[in-house]
Amino acid sequence: MTSTNDIRRSFLDYFSRHGHAATPSAPLVPYNDPTLMFVNAGMVPFKNVFTGLETPASPRAASSQKCVRAGGKHNDLDNVGYTARHHTFFEMLGNFSFGDYFKEEAITHAWTLLTKEWGLPADKLTVTVYHTDDEAAALWRKIAGLPDDRIIRIATADNFWSMGDTGPCGPCSEIFYDHGDHIFGGPPGSPDEDGDRFVEIWNLVFMQYDQQLDGTRRDLPKPSIDTGMGIERVAAVLQGVHDNYDTDTFKALIAASENLTGVAAEGETAASHRVIADHLRSTSFLMADGVLPSNEGRGYVLRRIMRRAMRHAHLLGASEPLMHRLVPSLVTEMGQAYPELVRGQALIEEVLEREETQFRRTLDKGLKLLDEATGDLAAGGELDGEVAFKLYDTYGFPYDLTEDALRARDIGVDKKGFDAAMARQKAAARAAWKGSGEAASGEVWFDIAEREGASEFTGYASTSGEGKVVAIVRNGAEVAQAAAGEEVVILTNQTPFYGESGGQTGDAGTITSLAGLSAQVTDTSKPLGRLHAHQVRINAGTVAVGDTVELKVDADRRDRVRANHSATHLVHAALRNRLGGHVTQKGSMVAEDRLRFDFSHPVALTAEDIAAVEAEVNAEIRANEQVSTRLMTPDDAVAAGALALFGEKYGDEVRVLSMGRTGGEGRNYSVELCGGTHVRATGDIGIFRIISESAVSSGVRRIEAMTGEGARQWLVGREEALKAAASVIRATPEEVPARLSALLDERRRLERELADAKKALALGGGNAGGGAAQADETIGDVTFAGQVLDGLDPKELRPLLDAAKQRIGSGVAAIIAVNDGKASIAAAVTDDLTARFSAVDLVRAAVDTLGGKGGGGRPDMAQGGGPDGSKASEALAAVKAVLAG
Ligand code: ALA
Repeated sequence: MTSTNDIRRSFLDYFSRHGHAATPSAPLVPYNDPTLMFVNAGMVPFKNVFTGLETPASPRAASSQKCVRAGGKHNDLDNVGYTARHHTFFEMLGNFSFGDYFKEEAITHAWTLLTKEWGLPADKLTVTVYHTDDEAAALWRKIAGLPDDRIIRIATADNFWSMGDTGPCGPCSEIFYDHGDHIFGGPPGSPDEDGDRFVEIWNLVFMQYDQQLDGTRRDLPKPSIDTGMGIERVAAVLQGVHDNYDTDTFKALIAASENLTGVAAEGETAASHRVIADHLRSTSFLMADGVLPSNEGRGYVLRRIMRRAMRHAHLLGASEPLMHRLVPSLVTEMGQAYPELVRGQALIEEVLEREETQFRRTLDKGLKLLDEATGDLAAGGELDGEVAFKLYDTYGFPYDLTEDALRARDIGVDKKGFDAAMARQKAAARAAWKGSGEAASGEVWFDIAEREGASEFTGYASTSGEGKVVAIVRNGAEVAQAAAGEEVVILTNQTPFYGESGGQTGDAGTITSLAGLSAQVTDTSKPLGRLHAHQVRINAGTVAVGDTVELKVDADRRDRVRANHSATHLVHAALRNRLGGHVTQKGSMVAEDRLRFDFSHPVALTAEDIAAVEAEVNAEIRANEQVSTRLMTPDDAVAAGALALFGEKYGDEVRVLSMGRTGGEGRNYSVELCGGTHVRATGDIGIFRIISESAVSSGVRRIEAMTGEGARQWLVGREEALKAAASVIRATPEEVPARLSALLDERRRLERELADAKKALALGGGNAGGGAAQADETIGDVTFAGQVLDGLDPKELRPLLDAAKQRIGSGVAAIIAVNDGKASIAAAVTDDLTARFSAVDLVRAAVDTLGGKGGGGRPDMAQGGGPDGSKASEALAAVKAVLAG
């Protein structure tokens, strides 16, 4: 059996041998056409080549292009599951001639590949041509030897192909395969043509015109060829089955869903399994190309497809979310040909599971409502549009899901009623939104992106260039022009300004025009991930949509950002080398003045780890190797060992940054996929200095670092501080540590000596005389020993009082210690006198004077304090006054 993967290889191989450049599939989101929701044919990425806007690398190309037809002109969503050959996602094999060969060679190639290379019997093939295309009919006769009754002339749009409402188009010739009379259906053009017997496998479009919006057609610069062959259909033919869903890829996916649901794909359940298999492919591929479920635009189409599949999973009795568990089978089948699936697998599974869990919360209730509302309806009936809207609005049932759910019972939906209910709600929402006075809504970006497509970023190669203004946004709304003094957002069709993304800060700079515009760009953001929005302040002149302007990035600032960004790649590699392969990037912030790098690691880095990482990065910087950026296909990038990060959008081309010296396996020190801007050689980074290491959350650490001039200034600042400290202690910087520890030792020794001296002094009391000690006094008949001691540690109060009591035998002692302006007092009364005086009363009297409160203890010993140490002598006098009675 020829596998689908073999067929893809064989097709590309055949056309490569015939001078065609094999071109990888472009992402599903078209980068060159704002009018298209998804790439829906192999020719879409080449649209501008056909119209002459772009010069192709080669005049002939071939590809296997991912396509989604689930919205817009080509929409197959409703048919999926119920026919043998419709898909929301499919791969289109195509060969293209850009003004090179035309009809004759196109027909020759198609016929040779099908009948010679792949050995299809000629008598199974029938072709159609546009009714006026005698030339094509004659060529089929000549090249394939087909009899006239198998060259069918078709007058309808079926044989005139166009990409969308605008763009390249032309008459076409389709090749049909006859699966045999055991299958219902008639040849093209016959009343039964919609049956599954005659299946169109290949469409050869003779591109001649460029359809304009006003309905007119212009001639293309040169007649060209665009062909499209659905790989699923031709796989069915080559694998001897008539149903696409019986081909190897689909069989494997359906087997996986049979396995997980425990329901065989037979009879009524077959459609559900098919829907699940098909929608698994479209949703996974869309997410791999960066589309995520949302309530508008592409994201909503994605959500609709997902929910449709999820209802079928529910129908099969799956009690838990199912879709995400099928992703591994899809990756097994298609991950080799489309490595973006492998890279996206974790995210795809996570999003599918989350969406299915959410949708299940309302699915049951919605289905119940649907049952109630249609209980009385017979086949041929119609569900009330208001109910369909309620299902949509309250239960999250996309319109086509409701339609699909009623299909088996042959019940339709009142679309007009649904639309009317929807229009009413939108009008109400718009009114409420306007009333709220809210500013900038994301909607404006969506409008601009849909109309203008992504901004083209030219800033890898240069920091200045021209662009055409495509939109101006003021306070969240588009305006036609803006003038001096205003702050607006300017969008151009192309720009060297990097929009904040991937952790790298947006560029700043200027936008000017020959007509006198002078505007300061303060920041650049990247709304929707594809527009570059310049936040500007207009200093002089005016700017209008359609103007040509000169965009100039602040190159010095960009250089600092570059150095910091490249340093994050080096530190990532150094951390992995030092700590192990479990280190992965968890986030990063690359600004003008510093960088931050978050990574998975369970414990704090030791000082040795930090020093080693810093040294390793600096060694790579000094090696000053060129930083190379290569544009590669994603699989080449991964083969080159690139560290890929999901969350980035990977198209048919990815940027691979290689940095640092070449190691043992010929691989550079750091290889990463990255869309940011980087230094030319590692030496441009200058110096790398880690300034902090900390925890972000459990298992995630953060390093902050500086590079280049910023790091130098930081180091100079440290050096200055050290020098200043050294000069204070009259040492050289080198002597500072030893000198400081000697000084600290000395200070500790002096403090001890001082404390001892004070104690000795206090203990000396009246007997010793002199110093701060006061002579014992007699107040009435009571001996009183009172002292104020500056700098006495309050801890010493108790032992000093005990000593005083011993000395006087009978009497009262009070000592006040003053430290930092505050006073602590303790008083003691010998036991023979506690009946007459309480130490607590004595202390309280002193505390009052010291501006404090309270004080407490026992009659023989009490303690207290107050903030006003300058009143210490008065406090002592207050104690004496109490004794005097
Ligand atoms: N662009 C043509 C198609 O999609 C080949 O059928």
